Amino acid sequence: MSIDCPASCPFVAGRLDELDFPLGQLHRLAPVASGGTAPDGAEVDETKRNLLKLLAIVGVVGAAGGGLVGGALQYAQPPVVGIKSFPAVQLLDTDGAPLTASKVNAEYNAATSQLHLFYYPLTNEPNFFLNLAPATPGGLGATNVPGGVGPTGSIVAYSAICQHLGCPAPAIAYYPPGTCTKTFNGKTTKNLSFYIHCSCHGSTYDVTNKADNLTGPAIYPLPQVELLWKDPSAGGDDSIWAVGESTAVPVNGHFNTLQGGYQVPSTSQLVAEAPIILCQFPSP
Ligand code: FES
Repeated sequence: MSIDCPASCPFVAGRLDELDFPLGQLHRLAPVASGGTAPDGAEVDETKRNLLKLLAIVGVVGAAGGGLVGGALQYAQPPVVGIKSFPAVQLLDTDGAPLTASKVNAEYNAATSQLHLFYYPLTNEPNFFLNLAPATPGGLGATNVPGGVGPTGSIVAYSAICQHLGCPAPAIAYYPPGTCTKTFNGKTTKNLSFYIHCSCHGSTYDVTNKADNLTGPAIYPLPQVELLWKDPSAGGDDSIWAVGESTAVPVNGHFNTLQGGYQVPSTSQLVAEAPIILCQFPSP
C-alpha cells in the first residue's frame, strides 16, 4: 500500500488547493430578478450582500436596544487565553512515576511502536515522546540527535499535530524501523528507515533531525519540545523535564504556541496510544 496517501485519503477534500476561490468569499451564479440590470448568470457577491444585511440588522437593533448590541459584540469575541512563557514541567511515566532516563532506556527505544504522548505547554498541545536509541546494540536507531537528551542523546519530543492541516496523533504517528519501505523524493536523511508520517495526506518528518520535512504537503517541521535531563553525573536525579520549544513556527492551529489554551499543571504524564499505520509493523 502506498503511504503517500493519494486522493483516497480522508480529509483530502479539505485541502485549500482543491478550492477554486479563496476561503472567506462566497460567490453564487444566479439570475437577476425582473427589473434588474445585470444579465442572467451574472456573478453575485454574497459576501458584500450579507455584510449589508448584517449592517442593516445591527442598525435596527442598535436603535431599539442600544447597549444590547455592545454587550452582544463583547461576548461574540472570545478572550485569548494562554500563558506568557514556557513553564518547566516534569514528565511522568504512564504509571504516574517520575520519568527518568534510565527508565526510558529500559522501557522504550526506536523499535517501540506504541505512541507515547504528553501535553505541553498547553492542555490542547499533544507531543510525541520518543527514545530513538537502538533496541539492541548496533541495531537501527539514532543517538546524539539535535535536541536529544539522556546518556546517549536519543530522547526527543515533537508536536503530535501535523503542520499541514492539523491532523493529530494517532493519525500522525511514529513509524519504527522496518515498518514501511519508503523513498523521500531525493531528500536525504541520516536514516530513512524510521520517521513520523501523517496518514491524512502523506507528510513525513525526520525524527533524527528536528522533525524536518521529508515529504509534503506540510512545509514546516514539527515544533520540537526542549527537554532537560538532570544528569546524575552532575548531581541530578535522572529526571526529564519539558522546558521550552525550539522551533520558530508555532504548533498548528495556534497563532502562538503559548496562546489558545490553558497551561498544563507542574507535571505531565505520558499517555500510551495505538498509532494509525498505513502499512505493516515488522514481524517480531
Ligand atoms: S494533515 Fe495533511 S498531511 Fe497531515
